[in-house]
Amino acid sequence: MKVSIFHTPELIPSDSQPDCAIAIDVLRATSTISTALAAGAEAVQAFSSMDELMRVSEQWPADRRLRAGERGGAKVEGCEMGNSPLACTPELVGGKRLFMSTTNGTRCLEKIQHAKTVLAAALINRAAIVQYLLNQQPDSIWIAGSGWEGSYSLEDTVCAGAIVHSLSAHLASQGQTLESIAGNDEAFAAVALYTQWQDRLLDLLCHATHGQRLLRLDCLDDLKYCAQLDTLDVLPIQRELGVLVKHTA
Ligand code: MLT
Repeated sequence: MKVSIFHTPELIPSDSQPDCAIAIDVLRATSTISTALAAGAEAVQAFSSMDELMRVSEQWPADRRLRAGERGGAKVEGCEMGNSPLACTPELVGGKRLFMSTTNGTRCLEKIQHAKTVLAAALINRAAIVQYLLNQQPDSIWIAGSGWEGSYSLEDTVCAGAIVHSLSAHLASQGQTLESIAGNDEAFAAVALYTQWQDRLLDLLCHATHGQRLLRLDCLDDLKYCAQLDTLDVLPIQRELGVLVKHTA
């Protein structure tokens, strides 16, 4: 097993595909996707383009769809919801398909959509992701941060580090180490970031540029929610291009 980390969608190689690709957008797309599926959403269909989202969602029965649109942290006009995981209650999302477009997270999902297996990870579902990787043992794993408009983000890297840290701890009994599973320098750096901040994840998210942006938009509760580790036993997995569902063993 070799795990490589890419900090932004732009850095993901386009000339090959891994066995398993994992998109991360802790603030907040993959936290919201995980929460929506755990709350009973039928699926989350991700779009990089808002126009495409509107076009495709029009063909879906109105009582079984929700349009979730975010740009710059704020809700997009014409959508029923923005991108807050806290809005994803069973009452609102149960049985519905979320048609979702966000500034960076859904673009990241689109970039990895041709991998054999595509997952969506956040801090809240880290354990479910690690368990899946331990069960499936894919040879090559790419973890892709969504970043912010092409720039590095602390929150996605710390989550990638949390995944690799836990994976190498579990694999130690099979004689594997971080050194043996790390596929690039970024994997070492992400684990170092995680080990430094693992007991202060909320503090780190509050320091992060996008965390600051969300705090200005009055979203402290979203940060508190997204900073939790291993609280949700849900594995979002791509069933068809762009469509993520809850994986059932
Ligand atoms: C994104 O895709 O950039 C985010 O999920 C933004 C957000 O809503 O916090």
